[in-house]
Amino acid sequence: MADSPYPELKKSHVPERVGRPWTDHKPPPSAPVWAVIGGLGSFHVLVAALELGVFDALANLGATPGIPPAVIAVELADELGVSAPHLEALLDSLAVLGLLERVGGRYGLNDTAARYLTTDGPASMASLVPVAPGPLDNWSRLAETIRNGRPAEPIEDDPAEFYRPLVEGTFTTMLRAATRADLQLCYSAMAGPRVLDLGAGGAPWAIAVLKACPEATAVINDLDGVIEIAHQTTAEHGVADRCDFRPGNFHTIEIEPEAYDIAVLGHVCRTEGPAGAQRLIARAWEALRPDGRLLLADYFVAPEPQWSPHSVLMGMTMMASTINGFPITASQVAEWLREAGFEHLRLIEPIGHQYLYTATKPRRPDALLQPKGTQ
Ligand SMILES: C[S@@+](CC[C@H](N)C(=O)[O-])C[C@H]1O[C@@H](n2cnc3c(N)ncnc32)[C@H](O)[C@@H]1O
Repeated sequence: MADSPYPELKKSHVPERVGRPWTDHKPPPSAPVWAVIGGLGSFHVLVAALELGVFDALANLGATPGIPPAVIAVELADELGVSAPHLEALLDSLAVLGLLERVGGRYGLNDTAARYLTTDGPASMASLVPVAPGPLDNWSRLAETIRNGRPAEPIEDDPAEFYRPLVEGTFTTMLRAATRADLQLCYSAMAGPRVLDLGAGGAPWAIAVLKACPEATAVINDLDGVIEIAHQTTAEHGVADRCDFRPGNFHTIEIEPEAYDIAVLGHVCRTEGPAGAQRLIARAWEALRPDGRLLLADYFVAPEPQWSPHSVLMGMTMMASTINGFPITASQVAEWLREAGFEHLRLIEPIGHQYLYTATKPRRPDALLQPKGTQ
């Protein structure tokens, strides 16, 4: 007879009842399966809370982490103009998910909510959450994608529609990673580097270098419809006058050979598949001067995928919604870089879960033979 999938170990199987420690003869709890089933609901609970403005409204009502929760559901429902019993169910779900504080029927912000879920939080993910998984329909049709080897509604059909909100949502994280990368890469010590940022989005990598090096200049590329975001972000950071904006497909736009000191491929390779990623690496190689450096940021999968769950799932997100996207492994990328001719590969983690390969285009062997100062 079929057994029941209880999330916790069944009472009839606990050591107290059977008189000995449970062994692998006993069924495991089904909690991991329930956690996955709950994932869909959890995502929509959070998206609904953000759409309704729950976290911002709590902040407006004076809810702060560290003080006892004081807001009741009816009061918050009044503030938001929504149904109180429905809101209460949503608030309880958020509390269960660890995204709100709830004590005795009163609600407040916890540290997570204040930092990541309020619009003005210091590391707000409020605009990122709804767009991060990509088109939701593609997830419902994942089995079909795996059968056909192609998603039903690839992002490539309307890339700007997908990438615009995504790059706005990821900008602060990427800018932080790019800025922190200087601690290991010391690009701020370069006199006036010329930067090429392909698929730049809001151009966080170029902006970090431009801000660190007052003489630096940058060529910023992205698709029509997305590059406008870089116009805006570079202006906000006071570096737009040192940028040359080059809209278009990064596989085909014109790029001056051997003209750049830094080339950036920031989170573009895992959507491209091996052939596309290798073409981009080759473009970066051609664009760099000897001694120039490539910065290739992405979510690289570890030798054992279980060691890098975030990277595996970020790669999966791309596979679910792009024609060529796949998880890419750290060793695969290292191989592509070496095959292209790059040397001095380093893999760094400037901030948690953000990884970056740096690699240098070597000087030409004939240049090494020339006396110093004549190269
Ligand atoms: C995941 S975002 C990364 C943005 C930015 N480089 C970063 O690290 O935050 C990928 C970017 O590549 C751009 N992109 C995708 N395909 C492109 C193409 N064929 N030509 C130019 N840009 C492209 C997208 O518009 C998007 O801005």
